Amino acid sequence: MKFFIDTANLDEIKEAHDLGVLDGVTTNPSLMAKEGIKGEDNVRNHYKAICDIVDDNVSAEVIATDFDGIVKEGESLAKIDDKIVVKVPMIRDGVKALKYFSSNGIRTNCTLIFSAGQAILAAKAGANYVSPFIGRLDDIATDGLGLIEQIVNIYDQYDYQTEVLAASVRHTMHLIQCAEMGVDVATCPLSVITGLLRHPLTDSGLEKFLADHKKNNS
Ligand code: G3P
Repeated sequence: MKFFIDTANLDEIKEAHDLGVLDGVTTNPSLMAKEGIKGEDNVRNHYKAICDIVDDNVSAEVIATDFDGIVKEGESLAKIDDKIVVKVPMIRDGVKALKYFSSNGIRTNCTLIFSAGQAILAAKAGANYVSPFIGRLDDIATDGLGLIEQIVNIYDQYDYQTEVLAASVRHTMHLIQCAEMGVDVATCPLSVITGLLRHPLTDSGLEKFLADHKKNNS
């Protein structure tokens, strides 16, 4: 399973990259706003700065919601760097734009997926990634991981090239359960990735090893 980090914070992206386990980055307008990035030039420069840190796969989301606007914005974002993946919302004109981008060699990530039907549409339109939001479904007492399982099972029956990119991953168990289901990619905050490191038996075991080594060498 590939790990993407879901942030626009350059320090966090560097930290995850330095850990050696990062395969990409996803951003969205809320994450860009959180970092105070506004204005077209600043946004483009920020995406370029992210691309300069990671090896590939930087999802940059369009703001336009009409076909012509999505295409214009997506083409412009894709020109920033070859690592850019254009993030397109699951709306009618978004689906049309996914088809356009896939026919014109621009990689896409279809976002705001909350049903299996939407995931099927995105795959048929040629999206490279489909992003179902686990945490936001859990927030409204709906089974986010259940949707992931449903999409993985549906995609397994066909020859879709679309990868399942589990998004809105809020904690380590979301991530582990995605891995159990064979999800292609999970995007999550840095805290979820580093949360995988922790186990009290690792900490106490290391403490004992180091103490015994010290005793033996003093
Ligand atoms: O980037 C999309 C998604 O990962 C957002 O997550 O936690 O805001 O629901 P969250």
